[in-house]
Amino acid sequence: MSEEPVNQSVIWQPQPGPQEMLLTCPVEEIFFGGARGGGKTDGVIGSWLGHAGRHGAHARGIVFRRSMSELDEVQSRMMEVFPALGARYKAAIRVWEMPGGAVLRLRFLDSDEDATKYQGHAYSWMAFDEAGNWPTPKAIDQLRACLRSVHGVPIQLILTGNPGGVGHNWLKARYIDPATPMTPFQGPDGSMRVFIPSRLEDNRLLMEKDSQYANRLKSSGPAWLVRAWLEGDWNTVAGGMFDDVYRPSVHEVEPFEIPRSWIIDRSFDWGSSKPFSVCWWAESDGTEATLKDGTKKSWPRGTLFQVAEWYGWNGQPNEGCRMLAVEIARGILEKEKDIFPGRKVVPGPADNSIFDAENGMCIADDMGRIGVHWERSNKSPGSRRTGWEAMRKRFKACLTSPMEEPGLFTFNTCRSGFIRTVPTLPRDQHNPEDVNTASEDHCADSVRYRCLYVRAVAFSQPFRL
Ligand SMILES: Nc1ncnc2c1ncn2[C@@H]1O[C@H](COP(=O)(O)OP(=O)(O)OP(=O)(O)O)[C@@H](O)[C@H]1O
Ligand SMILES: [Mg+2]
Repeated sequence: MSEEPVNQSVIWQPQPGPQEMLLTCPVEEIFFGGARGGGKTDGVIGSWLGHAGRHGAHARGIVFRRSMSELDEVQSRMMEVFPALGARYKAAIRVWEMPGGAVLRLRFLDSDEDATKYQGHAYSWMAFDEAGNWPTPKAIDQLRACLRSVHGVPIQLILTGNPGGVGHNWLKARYIDPATPMTPFQGPDGSMRVFIPSRLEDNRLLMEKDSQYANRLKSSGPAWLVRAWLEGDWNTVAGGMFDDVYRPSVHEVEPFEIPRSWIIDRSFDWGSSKPFSVCWWAESDGTEATLKDGTKKSWPRGTLFQVAEWYGWNGQPNEGCRMLAVEIARGILEKEKDIFPGRKVVPGPADNSIFDAENGMCIADDMGRIGVHWERSNKSPGSRRTGWEAMRKRFKACLTSPMEEPGLFTFNTCRSGFIRTVPTLPRDQHNPEDVNTASEDHCADSVRYRCLYVRAVAFSQPFRL
């Protein structure tokens, strides 16, 4: 006989630990989870039950998943819990009517544009289960505007997610980096946010009911991803293409004056609705450079420094600024006059698509007329994989002392493109040798072109990948 009396009327209750904290946390925006099987979806369900219980008919809720099949998963778990509480489900419109009059909608949202359909709606509680499946927070931020209550109900936004997905970078930047877990902090819009971590080991009910779950999880994905899921480790950039070879303290260096004998060139990844990325490179020829503190240093010939960048975004992750090719070309020439006075900048590689002629227009020609020329990047079969490997090899070369092979560094001023997006680039879960192309990979593409680029005759130099 158990010591505590069992309350037969309890249909659902939070598990001690993270779920309990989620249900009692008053912070407006909560990121919950960070690992697989940690009780996230049940946490969302419980959070809604608490909200509906507290505010009755004034509670208006909505749960989003990215796809219809994902939403079915949430719906079936609710089917196990809600009817026993007296809730009625209107399946045709995917709406739960709770006994006290609260209403909960279940929706999927697979395109950012669909977020606009909710303009004018008002919700007091909103949840995005597996928010890491959205490549950017755009739709979430847009829908956030629907959080309001004319009845004075305290509004709440709950997100759940795991590391290693397409949304790894923005989730990490938004919730993991700003503060230690369980410490509320102010977001850029002034609202309070908090990260409540929960791991598989916190989901004791699942561990007891299904002791093989962890083992099955281990065989359900590549080892690096499973490790990230189980440990809920975001800080080592779990699942990143470069997490094991990139160290900010090594690869991000203070700007220094580029020796006259080094070549400066640029690489380019085109984008309009998505960001474009111009990277300027200084390539060491082995001669010494003078660092800011006056010390002299040399690197193996062929070592690349990204010395400047122009990341064409509108300030929102993975959103471009829709500039015309001619405007970008003019901008490049202006910036070069400023950044490299008296120095020659030679053409480097660009995304091959800019050479395609469409309706008689060709981006490379448009830019060429302004005086900005590009070389074709390597697009042989397998060049993506070879390119990432070349970048990894160069990053790794920087970790040995003394360096023996050409490395890859960035000036620590290149923050919007390189430092923000390259080190945390997630791998493709189905093809771990490639990056997830739905993630913000534009600067990385531009870096990759440069790492695979072999300069033609006019500037011939021995070059190793
Ligand atoms: N408070 C609870 N009461 C009863 N069962 C629970 C509770 N929390 C979790 N569980 C059980 O654990 C299972 C897994 O939890 P849940 O689906 O919430 O985890 P998750 O973190 O969303 O998992 P995934 O990463 O696979 O989406 C649930 O289906 C349910 O059976
Ligand atoms: Mg879940």
